[in-house]
Amino acid sequence: MSSVQGTKKPIDIGFERTCDCPPNHINCLTAREWIQHQIAVWEFYYEKRDIRDKKVHPAVFPIALPAKCIGLFTHRGELILDPFVGSGTTLVAAQDLGRNAVGFDLKSEYVDIANKRVESGEKGDTRQVAFCEEAHDIPKYLEEETVSLVVTSPPYANLLNRRRRNKSKRGNLRRDEHYLTVQQYSANPRDLGTMDVQVYAEAIGRIFAGIRPLLKERGHCVINVSDYWWENRRVPAHVYVIQALQQAGYELRNTIVWDRRNIVNRAGIFGWPSNYITLTTTFEYILHFWNPE
Ligand SMILES: C[S@@+](CC[C@H](N)C(=O)[O-])C[C@H]1O[C@@H](n2cnc3c(N)ncnc32)[C@H](O)[C@@H]1O
Repeated sequence: MSSVQGTKKPIDIGFERTCDCPPNHINCLTAREWIQHQIAVWEFYYEKRDIRDKKVHPAVFPIALPAKCIGLFTHRGELILDPFVGSGTTLVAAQDLGRNAVGFDLKSEYVDIANKRVESGEKGDTRQVAFCEEAHDIPKYLEEETVSLVVTSPPYANLLNRRRRNKSKRGNLRRDEHYLTVQQYSANPRDLGTMDVQVYAEAIGRIFAGIRPLLKERGHCVINVSDYWWENRRVPAHVYVIQALQQAGYELRNTIVWDRRNIVNRAGIFGWPSNYITLTTTFEYILHFWNPE
């Protein structure tokens, strides 16, 4: 049990395996299930429970994404951490799979949504909970070496911090209700979504350096991030994230591509005929690290 500095309020949450798997197994999967995960290009579908309304949250990942990572890198009963939990998708996946999970977000509205989503879910003998907290302060909440997996999608630097022009959409679809709106998470200067990529990378480095002691030895850390265009320049945000995590002591294990072509439909023509620009929305990165021995 750990205590929260200042309030002395403990987070009462389990972190140990409740399965009978042999100690050297990294997950509860059978060999047959394992083999389906070996392809390094992943594809996901949103389901009805997923939040797709950008007014509720502008950038959620599908439940299937954290679910796949949880299945691959943890055992039943273990503890998952999402430092940028948003609408609580990771908590929902953890609840489905019988894992404990704790999430943090700067914005209290998102934390409320996250907690409501898991309160209405199936109650088992695990717990999933979100707190309104800035990610640098997470180490105050958890004991060292209790977390088996960090799985998260941080803001992609300042990608959302501008008016949407919907350039990837076709014709009339471009001027939808989101056209020219700014859909940033918040204007809080501590929000990673307000930061230029260099400042962002420094903040990511500090946050994940603080989180690393909470991870078990060889505990996993999976980060979903995308590169993006900014004033006709490509920003390789995933490279900044890899470098920041390596400097914080993590070891990169796998670079996975999230193939999003099944989600993008009726894409607009982009750059033709003078400027070759690939649609950023067609894929994202899923970066897999671990906490080395
Ligand atoms: C890409 S969203 C995560 C969405 C989440 N995966 C979901 O499915 O709902 C990133 C989140 O990081 C939060 N955030 C930004 N800066 C933060 C910080 N410094 N500390 C904690 N949360 C932060 C934002 O409020 C936003 O909800």
